Amino acid sequence: MTLSPLLPEHGGPDDGPAAAFDFSTNASPLGPPPALLAAVQAADRSRYPDPGYRALRRLVGDEALVLPTAGGAEGIRRLTLAAMLAGRREVWVPQPGFGDYALAARALGLAVKPYAAPADIAPEAPALVWICEPCNPTGASVEAWPALDALVIVDRAYEPLRLQGDAPALPPGAWQLVCPNKALGLTGIRAGYAVAPAADAVWSHALSLAPSWVLSAEGVAMLTHWPSDDTQRWLAGTRATLRDWTAAQRALLADLDWAQLPSNTNFWLARPPRADYAPRLRERGIRVRDAASFGLPGWVRVSAQPPAARQALQQALLEIEGEDA
Ligand SMILES: Cc1ncc(COP(=O)(O)O)c(C=O)c1O
Repeated sequence: MTLSPLLPEHGGPDDGPAAAFDFSTNASPLGPPPALLAAVQAADRSRYPDPGYRALRRLVGDEALVLPTAGGAEGIRRLTLAAMLAGRREVWVPQPGFGDYALAARALGLAVKPYAAPADIAPEAPALVWICEPCNPTGASVEAWPALDALVIVDRAYEPLRLQGDAPALPPGAWQLVCPNKALGLTGIRAGYAVAPAADAVWSHALSLAPSWVLSAEGVAMLTHWPSDDTQRWLAGTRATLRDWTAAQRALLADLDWAQLPSNTNFWLARPPRADYAPRLRERGIRVRDAASFGLPGWVRVSAQPPAARQALQQALLEIEGEDA
């Protein structure tokens, strides 16, 4: 018997022709800070990095609790397996939410329990709870997370792209997953890290399961520059620009009769006047993320893009409207 593989669906590039204007990715269109980019380009590819990544771990937190990962996606897989080995049997995932949490659990035969709000989380067996704060694809945030009787991992992939409001208090004792490549506009670099609340069984399994040299030389360079003042200043500027672009793009879509949900981030859920807009925009070199795989048929996720992309979107939408008239 052959099993059909469980495959994720994502925004960003696929195997089709490159989109001239990509509204489907959540990554910042403003690119990395120049000093960080220079460090990535100068990364020494001629030798292995320190397999223990000790200097990096000390730099970003407590060396004994930082777990380097080859990006958030690899961290999600490895932490789910570590949670299973440490006795967790069910996995609670935000719905709508990033699809990899459920896929990682399903691939291991764990029960998947979707939740729409924190009050829905009611484990019946030792559980892993994923929190995505702020959440992909909604950009939504919870005011304050309650304490949960579970292993809790907070995916903070979009915290640096939070354009409004403050990060809420997280449940005590939660793990955190940090993957800054999206905010830095460097998603081709596969690097991130998790921070454990304690060096417990999950921590030890997750560390033991890491392939040797899980982080590339470029990954080490990116993460080494991530906490610097220069990078953090650059990001603050990025957020200011993205706020303006978000407001302009929301106004454009509202004028063309798109429904739009509130969001705290540079991406949000929107519903075009008709369900066939995603493929018709694609024909015109514009990509939006069809939200059907999030359980939201008819909706798309869009991200704030620069003025030239916005103009191209407006023109394409007017053309489509003209065809339908
Ligand atoms: C919520 C969330 N977490 C994690 C990831 C994975 O990011 P990466 O593996 O590039 O660090 C993504 C990517 O889209 C995401 O949306």
